[in-house]
Amino acid sequence: MGKLIVGNWKMNGSIKLVDEFILKINKQAILALPSIFISYVHFKNPELRIAAQDCSIFDGFGAHTGEISAQMLADAGCKYVIIGHSERRKTSNSDAISNILKKLQNVVNCGMTAILCVDERYAELIDEPTSDILKNHLDKVVIAYEPISAIGTGKVSSLKDISNVLADIKNSYFGVKTLYGGSVNANNVKDILSIASVDGVLIGGASLKLEELNKICQISMCLL
Ligand code: PGA
Repeated sequence: MGKLIVGNWKMNGSIKLVDEFILKINKQAILALPSIFISYVHFKNPELRIAAQDCSIFDGFGAHTGEISAQMLADAGCKYVIIGHSERRKTSNSDAISNILKKLQNVVNCGMTAILCVDERYAELIDEPTSDILKNHLDKVVIAYEPISAIGTGKVSSLKDISNVLADIKNSYFGVKTLYGGSVNANNVKDILSIASVDGVLIGGASLKLEELNKICQISMCLL
């Protein structure tokens, strides 16, 4: 399997941009879209691998106004769901670790893969007793190390830090796939993907530029 290249559009994009990506995106990329675009993209190109940017702590269906369950995301064509992104944890009081683990359970129960984001405080997750949930689903979880200091700042973490943290995570969760995220672009991705403990990248800003995202995919394929 090649490296995982996940683009996180955050609260960006439009039908016009989506249409452009559907036609020309490199098939290796996984796109984490705002949920409003997911069904549309899946309908127009069922081959494209789609992620959601979050899901509800509630499973199935019910009286939870404004929530979107993992079940609904799976029905709409998602294969992956990002959970615990620091931007969600900043704005949503539902994102305590116990709730993130509930979301993780919902995502894997619906047959999708959870992309679990951790930041500089990643050790709290590793120490959390309920991390048994994680240990039980290692084949359906990808752990993304996204230091807050690197997100959207243009300041990628040092290669040593990335290498050490992801090796630490791999040691704690044997066999788990890992991503690095934070200011990844076409210029720095080769060095990052060359680190042994890195299985892929989570890309914010640069994933909104089709040419750059495709270039990142091409670089990653040359590393195989
Ligand atoms: P960035 O965002 O690439 O714009 O730094 C990464 C992320 O938050 O997933």
